[in-house]
Amino acid sequence: MRKFEIKMAAAVMAIAGMAVCSGVSAKEKDDCCTKSNPAYDVIMSRKSVRTYADKPVSEAQIDSLLRAGMAAPSAMNIQPWELIVITDDAVKAAIGGGNRVITSAPLTIVVCADTVMMMRPRGQQGGEPVAQPNQFWQQDASAVAENILLAAESMGLGAVWTSASRPDRAGVIQKALGLPENIHPLAAIAIGYPAGNDKPKDKWKPEKVHYNKW
Ligand SMILES: Cc1cc2nc3c(=O)[nH]c(=O)nc-3n(C[C@H](O)[C@H](O)[C@H](O)COP(=O)(O)O)c2cc1C
Repeated sequence: MRKFEIKMAAAVMAIAGMAVCSGVSAKEKDDCCTKSNPAYDVIMSRKSVRTYADKPVSEAQIDSLLRAGMAAPSAMNIQPWELIVITDDAVKAAIGGGNRVITSAPLTIVVCADTVMMMRPRGQQGGEPVAQPNQFWQQDASAVAENILLAAESMGLGAVWTSASRPDRAGVIQKALGLPENIHPLAAIAIGYPAGNDKPKDKWKPEKVHYNKW
């Protein structure tokens, strides 16, 4: 009997040890952060969706997506973003460049940003702000794009980030949408109700984590 108890205790300790060796035990993870955490669930469920049902995205949903986008952080809180909502088939075709994902989605949101910002030169207290390049526009617009993707996932919509910043794409999109010269597109996010059964990819690779040094 006693031998059995000792074996059981060893087995329990081994299992607990395995969990701890992988970083954080399952119980610790549940207790601190992920149990009943809808935001975390949405982050882990998001996936690119490229096929859509024939069902429109409502105006209320579009409004919520835009608000989520603009809740993003931005360098110096400049909020340089501009969002173009596209539901018109002719405009989708014009910006899509033959991309079926864009033309088949009921909604595309083009996330753009102002590449120029008005700021006082560094270290200068007074004086007028002057126009200078915003070095952070791509980071700021990326934060908007990710917020929109996550908001779409949270509403049961499917979405995919398609590149709009490549020089060959950016010029076409700028012209088709009549964007001012300083407003650059970063992403054209196609959005609709998923037609397929896309699943999130498991990308967790602990070997990519480095503590305190490489
Ligand atoms: C900067 C960027 C550009 C992308 N461009 C495209 C694109 O042009 N067309 C496309 O179908 N997907 C595009 N994607 C989506 C990626 O292919 C997708 O995120 C990646 O395969 C991982 O899959 P997941 O989103 O399902 O996790 C882009 C994603 C990012 C972040």
